[in-house]
Amino acid sequence: MLDSNRIMSKGFDVEIDTLANGGQAEDSTGVLSERSDLSVGLSSGGGAKSFYIETFGCQMNVHDTEKVAGFLLARGYRAAASATDADLMLYNTCSIREKAAQKVFSRLGEWRGERRKVIGVLGCLAQQEGEEIFERAPWVSLVCGSASYRKLPELVAELESGGRRVMGLDLNVDETFETEITRRDNPIRAYITIIEGCDYACSYCVVPHTRGPERSRASDAVLSEARRLAYAGYTEIQLLGQTVNSYRDPSPRKLSFVELLREVASVIGIRRVRFTTSHPNDFHREIVDAIDSTLALCDHIHLPVQSGSDRILREMRRTYTRDEYLDKISWIRGARRAISITSDIIVGFPGESERDFEDTLTLLDEVGYDGIFSFSYSPRPNTTATSMPDAIPEAEKSRRLAILQERQRQIQLTRNEKLVGETFEVLVDNHNAARAQWAGRTSSNRMINFTSPRENLLGEYIQVKVTRAAPHSLVGEHVALQ
Ligand code: 5AD
Ligand code: SF4
Repeated sequence: MLDSNRIMSKGFDVEIDTLANGGQAEDSTGVLSERSDLSVGLSSGGGAKSFYIETFGCQMNVHDTEKVAGFLLARGYRAAASATDADLMLYNTCSIREKAAQKVFSRLGEWRGERRKVIGVLGCLAQQEGEEIFERAPWVSLVCGSASYRKLPELVAELESGGRRVMGLDLNVDETFETEITRRDNPIRAYITIIEGCDYACSYCVVPHTRGPERSRASDAVLSEARRLAYAGYTEIQLLGQTVNSYRDPSPRKLSFVELLREVASVIGIRRVRFTTSHPNDFHREIVDAIDSTLALCDHIHLPVQSGSDRILREMRRTYTRDEYLDKISWIRGARRAISITSDIIVGFPGESERDFEDTLTLLDEVGYDGIFSFSYSPRPNTTATSMPDAIPEAEKSRRLAILQERQRQIQLTRNEKLVGETFEVLVDNHNAARAQWAGRTSSNRMINFTSPRENLLGEYIQVKVTRAAPHSLVGEHVALQ
């Protein structure tokens, strides 16, 4: 599954705006008296009301924010320049780990007693906490879970007609969130959701409870969105889903995931197609074959393993063994193209012994990941792992995390050093004027900082020769093709 609230391997992370001050959360449970000013609402006053959305969490959330913003713009709202200026302040929240949830409550705490704005909580924490949010932060007027976005029009209409506490928390959904307009916040990479929710039941994970059951979008809807994006000038598309490769076309065309990949990759104007996150259980050899034979499919696969120990994988209910996972890795390594592989790993799952942890370390060596996102296990509400015995003390989890990260840092450095002297096609997505450097991504999603004699490179595909390697990024220079 997806997450960008992550600790390491920045070179593989999609940079998103999340927190301005991501410090430790304060306790915001001090319940104030209920807000008495009933006139606070979105209907009062003249002129277009403005909104501001702050996003926490994964790319899925980042893209949901783009859709919610699109919906509000279509309804006549305008985007505020800052939270302070907004009439409607929305938090699109994450609850994957305790810290993420605390950050949201800390943010809400900053608006204690606020009377001029309407404050709303969207996303996973909203779904998880529901009405409890009104208890903890009575100045909040809207709570809408990530499985209930299709109810937003009704909820916003209710707010506009003076509603003070409106809530959408339906989890029994069989539809995806469709919007006529999506505000695109990333000028280089465009996201398309192809599947929402999750039907797995990993024992540590809140997602099935916050995002609801798995449901796929019709292939025609996905393809027409891809064509619209290409027409708008996008060349790179990232297909999103908690378990993206579990995609099952609900329309009569019944495209498989791989067929959908190939069709998106063949849209004229699209030069790069990425997809995340793949579940190992639904990862088939055809995906590797498709990448091998389709240049526009990027040579990068994010395939979270979570643990290298069979015992822990079983306790986590990951549905595969270490060897089965490694078989899939060998298909990828056997491809003609050099495909980079990244992963998510949790340390300190309840009952994880030194030996189990060692199994995870040896798995890192065996796979040779190009990047990992690593986490300390965090107990979450409504998950079976929460009540498992033998919790690992926080200090021990931190110790294991540090060891894991150091081991992986060495692996990445070694792998990246081998790339010095090679030339890659880079899609330029950033410019650092102070350092006179450009930055972009290779097809394998490696971040590369480079110099160029040319100007105005944003959005261009450039050949870059690697001159230096670091664990999380590369350094290079623009080379002109002969
Ligand atoms: N504690 C720690 N990490 C978690 N993840 C999911 N749930 C938890 C949890 N309770 C991690 C997994 C997942 C990634 C997005 O977040 O590694 O793949
Ligand atoms: Fe991913 Fe498992 Fe969570 Fe589903 S339950 S989102 S497969 S970690």
